[in-house]
Amino acid sequence: MEKITFYGTHSYDRRCFAQINEEFGFELCNLRSFLSTENARMTQGARAVCIFVNDRADREVLTILKEQGVELLTLRCAGFNNVDLKAAAELGIKVTQVPAYSPHAIAEHAVALLLTLNRKTHRAYIRTRDGNFALHGLMGFDLYGKTAGIFGTGRIARELIRILQGFGLKILAYDPYPDEAYAREHDVTYVSPEELYARADIISLNCPLTEQNRHLINAQAIARMKKGVFIINTGRGPLIDTAALIEGLRSGQVGAAGLDVYEDERDYFYADRSDNVITDDHLARLLSFNNVLITSHQAFFTEEAMVNIARTTLQNCKDFFEHTELKNEVKAQ
Ligand code: NAI
Repeated sequence: MEKITFYGTHSYDRRCFAQINEEFGFELCNLRSFLSTENARMTQGARAVCIFVNDRADREVLTILKEQGVELLTLRCAGFNNVDLKAAAELGIKVTQVPAYSPHAIAEHAVALLLTLNRKTHRAYIRTRDGNFALHGLMGFDLYGKTAGIFGTGRIARELIRILQGFGLKILAYDPYPDEAYAREHDVTYVSPEELYARADIISLNCPLTEQNRHLINAQAIARMKKGVFIINTGRGPLIDTAALIEGLRSGQVGAAGLDVYEDERDYFYADRSDNVITDDHLARLLSFNNVLITSHQAFFTEEAMVNIARTTLQNCKDFFEHTELKNEVKAQ
């Protein structure tokens, strides 16, 4: 029986993978800690190692994995910015991803962040439970007729656009690889980032993190945006320069920020840190704004997505062990 060692697992991962594994019959070894240089030797003889968004698979870690006999690094997520693909290729470690497990889940979460921040239901919830039924500070705006600017027009962005158009929002988009036929058919207007900043009332980041777009949303970009712009990030934390965002929020240039991802999330997200003080000053400052909503990289977290993640990940392993075509292989560009 082939063994797969999982890093960074939580109860919900273990439950879901165990259930779907009944169809596959692998031996699943679960480690709770994220993959790092400290624990990369704990692969327990497995040829396949499974990781998630905040595990570290840089050259150093991959080299240790290779020494342990690991041949497959299988990501149970879509993004692979945490993997040094060039190093993996040089070491002869194959890398697979789950390209799409539920674009609906992420798009719907982005909308949840937007609606909460606009209609301030996060504040109303606390107020009414405390017997405070006053409305001051809770005024939102109609989404109808406003303009959303979306970075990326891939799977998640398209779902998001479909939902936002249901509210009557006009859609601008920027994508370095525009799909003009899609845009024509779906009433989406491709514009430059500059035009998007100048015209959008709401900006959503639905693109991958690459070398080129780290700190895409920086002080210069924020200065070009409409005053009071809403920024929603369900992409990756480093797409936003956090210091610049905080400054934008302080000055009122940014009206609200919905963040499912955060630049330095690795030390906090997916863990209960409530017994400690927050020593990350940027995170603490963000949490102090009543117009910022942070969720802990949970946009993917629906039943449907988890089942799809588990099934596709285990199928990727099966394809690898059986030497059939690796449909979901990720290669260095
Ligand atoms: P996709 O590959 O279907 O689409 C990505 C699109 O972004 C492509 O059209 C690509 O051309 C475009 N793009 C690349 N660089 C860009 C740039 N600099 N500016 C604007 N567009 C750019 O990917 P999908 O499935 O839509 O996912 C997008 C991202 O969402 C993932 O890469 C991942 O980082 C993030 N994600 C977050 C999750 C969460 O739980 N918060 C879960 C799943 C994905």
